[in-house]
Amino acid sequence: IGKKRIIIAIDGPAASGKSTTARKVAEKLGYTYIDTGAMYRAVTFKALREGVLEGLRRSPGSVSGLLDTISIEFRGDRVILDGSDVTAEIRDNRVSREVSFISSLKPVRDRLRRMQQDLGRQRAVVMDGRDIGTVVFPDAELKIFLVADARERAKRRYAELLLKSPEGAELPDLDLLEDEIKQRDEEDTLREHAPLKKHPDAVEIDTSDLTIESQVERVYTLALAAGTK
Ligand code: DC
Repeated sequence: IGKKRIIIAIDGPAASGKSTTARKVAEKLGYTYIDTGAMYRAVTFKALREGVLEGLRRSPGSVSGLLDTISIEFRGDRVILDGSDVTAEIRDNRVSREVSFISSLKPVRDRLRRMQQDLGRQRAVVMDGRDIGTVVFPDAELKIFLVADARERAKRRYAELLLKSPEGAELPDLDLLEDEIKQRDEEDTLREHAPLKKHPDAVEIDTSDLTIESQVERVYTLALAAGTK
C-alpha cells in the first residue's frame, strides 16, 4: 500500500465474516487489526465476573464503577483484561447473550469509542465492529459493510463451535443458533446509541456465497485503491 496509511472500517451483523476478513486484510497490508467486539465482550465478562450484571439492569447508571478501573489491551491476537488473558472466556455463550445489553449503555460506548479512536491514531488499522464507519471513524478512507443471510451465518457459527468444542460436547442446533443471531441483529440494530447501520459511503458486500479468500481479495483491492487516492 506504501503511500498513505489509512483506516479501514468494517461493520456488519454477527457472524457476517468481519473478523476473519479484517484479520487477513490487516495481515496482507501489514496493518494492525482491532476487534472492537472483543472490547465490548471484555466489559461484559468483567460485569459477569464481578457479579454486577443484574444490578446494572436495575440501575444502568452504576456502570461507571465498572469502567473506572478497566484496562483492555491487545497483545497480538490475545485480549488482556485488567492484566489477565481473557481471549477464550470472552467467547463464552454467557458473554454472547449479555453483550448486547452491555453495549447498549452510553457510558460503555463513550469509553470504548475513545479507546478505539486512540488505537486508530496511527492510521494503519483495520477495525471491525458495528459502528466503526458511522461513529468511531466516520472519516475512514475505506468503509465496508458486510452482510450474509441468517441461516448461512448460523452455519458458520456452528462450524466454529464444532472446531472449538471438546470431542463429545453437546452443540446447540442450527435453528437455535439462527434465532440467537437474529435476536442479536435486532438488539444491535434497534438500540438507541450507535446502532448497527450502513454508512452511506460504505461498500456493501454480501458474503453469503463468497469464500473467505474472495471476500479478503475484494476488500484488499478496495484498500489498495483507497490508499492511493
Ligand atoms: O463482533 P462480536 O459479535 O464479537 O460483537 C459482540 C457484540 O458487541 C455485538 O453484539 C454488539 C457489540 N458491539 C458493538 O456494539 N459495537 C461494536 N463496534 C462492536 C461490537
